[in-house]
Amino acid sequence: MKETPITVLAIGDIFGPPGMKAIQSLLPDLRKTFDVDVVIANGENSSRGVGISARTAKEMIQSGVDIITTGNHIWSGVEKSDHLLQDNSNILRPANYPATNPGEDYGIFHNKGKRIGVINLMGRLFMNIALDCPFQKFEEIYNRHHREWDILIVDFHAEATSEKLAFAHFAADRCHLIFGTHTHIPTDDLEQISERCVYITDLGMTGPYDSVIGIDKDIALNSFLTGRRGKLKIGSNDVRLYGILVRFLLPGPRIEDFQKIQLFSLEK
Ligand SMILES: [Fe+2]
Repeated sequence: MKETPITVLAIGDIFGPPGMKAIQSLLPDLRKTFDVDVVIANGENSSRGVGISARTAKEMIQSGVDIITTGNHIWSGVEKSDHLLQDNSNILRPANYPATNPGEDYGIFHNKGKRIGVINLMGRLFMNIALDCPFQKFEEIYNRHHREWDILIVDFHAEATSEKLAFAHFAADRCHLIFGTHTHIPTDDLEQISERCVYITDLGMTGPYDSVIGIDKDIALNSFLTGRRGKLKIGSNDVRLYGILVRFLLPGPRIEDFQKIQLFSLEK
């Protein structure tokens, strides 16, 4: 039987206007160069560094993002995100927020007749948010829906490396790609964690690296020195796009290849 290749690009947290410019200038070529079928990007910091807006969601999609995942800043933006989640099935909130919130537990993207399922979850360590257990929530979603996708991808948005890795071991026999987001610091542990699953603890940020995780470094440093939060100012230099590419062959799916992506934006 002829196998169908599906190439997935997962992009780390798009941070404010510098991250948006990087996506707009680099993603269209990236899609073409690597023959990408599905792009997943974490967009919870796309609007002014905190939150997502209708405008940044639209611009990400116009630039070639197919599915937008989020995290603890889903409701932090300048506008309410409820309508974004209600109106766009390709924008996901962490599934383990209480079910009283709008938004679906998971999303499905179709390409080449294949179904790519995406679940967005949040870790609980150091998050101080009343979240349901991400491990139990994953199990619930998996048991209810596992016949609905050919490839399953999880964005595990969390602070602690231990929680991300524990989840990866928990779910590695049921997922095909698990990547962490939120810390904005890329980790060097991209690997095949099981026969069927590729894993990385954190994709890293798509945004300004001459900063403290996206924030202007003087403002961030001052807040550590004084104990006061300064006015949010976004860094502007050394803008990079970070992500990973994974190529699957279906049916199976079988992992053919995977690699990290790191591109520098010339945009200022
Ligand atoms: Fe976050």
